[in-house]
Amino acid sequence: MNDYGFNTRAIHGGSDGKNPDNALNPPIFQTSTFVFDDIDHVERTMSFESDDYVYTRGNNPTLRLFENRMAQLEYGKGAVAFSSGMAAISSTLFSLLKLGDNVIIHRTLYGSSYTLATQLLPRYGIGYKLVDLTHLEELEEAIDQNTKVIYFESPSNPDLSIIDIREVVKRAKEEDIKVVVDNTFASPYFQNPLILGADVVVHSATKYICGHGDVVGGVAISMDEDYIHRLKFDYMCEFGGVMSPFDAWLLLRGLKTLGIRMKQHESNAMVLAKYLQENPRVRQVYYPGIEDFKGYDIARKQMNGFGAIISFEVEGGLEKAVKIVEGLQLIKLAVSLGDCETLIEVPAAMTHRGYPVEQLERFGFTESMVRISVGIEDVNDIIGDLDQTFRQVY
Ligand SMILES: Cc1ncc(COP(=O)(O)O)c(C=O)c1O
Repeated sequence: MNDYGFNTRAIHGGSDGKNPDNALNPPIFQTSTFVFDDIDHVERTMSFESDDYVYTRGNNPTLRLFENRMAQLEYGKGAVAFSSGMAAISSTLFSLLKLGDNVIIHRTLYGSSYTLATQLLPRYGIGYKLVDLTHLEELEEAIDQNTKVIYFESPSNPDLSIIDIREVVKRAKEEDIKVVVDNTFASPYFQNPLILGADVVVHSATKYICGHGDVVGGVAISMDEDYIHRLKFDYMCEFGGVMSPFDAWLLLRGLKTLGIRMKQHESNAMVLAKYLQENPRVRQVYYPGIEDFKGYDIARKQMNGFGAIISFEVEGGLEKAVKIVEGLQLIKLAVSLGDCETLIEVPAAMTHRGYPVEQLERFGFTESMVRISVGIEDVNDIIGDLDQTFRQVY
């Protein structure tokens, strides 16, 4: 199946093509538990001699299909589905870190991931080091004998930092440090961190993988089958952040159109980035597809496209930024991203509230940054809406 193209794998990957009663689509196995033939069957299943199912918190055929498909799309050997992106991220970090260890994180991360690393992990004796990973010399300085994980997003949320995954991996491998990459912004369509050497890839499946704003889910993928087994049965299953079968089914449906959606998202984003660059009221545009953007060259090397999240700063600071987002008619003021609908937000007031507001510049963004998740509507309508709010505000 790995020889097939992305869209074929997104539709058929990880399945033997056979569904009960010759159904085109797989059923939703909406069951909490599974029935055994006898105690011998229990023994074989619980000792993993057989692939049969025990209980949905451990496994379920609909979840397994979603996991297998995600593993194919990210070129992994296995995947674990979770009830949310944060469940995937927290379980992965807990599985790789213990008392006395530290994790190196990039200075900009999704707000809850930042809180997890800087506030929750330290309560369990796990330290963190905040580094600008776009400067590899900072990574060099930060690594010590207790560093066990390097964790980052590329592109990062909300400032679209592009981190050279191959270079980070090269340095990490010298010290046996695990590299975990949140690939939510790129989706597996535009980037495959495992191919670049990362140990684990995590996604908020809530975003592009779903694509329709109707599921909260997460997934972690790795090339190490033993690790995936441990992550599933020692962490997901015991912490309990399992995905529901219905959500897995919706995500399988979302995946079928991931490729064509990402193409449309990106083509709209390229047009919108240009519009924002030419808008005299916009001071700065953050988008990896802009040739003079800081991460452009690395993005070209490690991605197959630039994604569709754009951040920008407007003239007049926070007050004007708020007016801009409040004056929109078509574009929705909402957290989350990756949906068919164009969504807009002010990170400092919304997704990144956990960052200390007086120190935002240290993290690469400001209070007045606006983030837009470019949807797949007709791009002229998206631009028309932005244009009317800009005209009203200025
Ligand atoms: C980059 C990134 N990672 C992880 C998450 C968390 O995902 P979830 O909301 O599915 O828990 C988000 C949510 O916005 C995100 O933007």
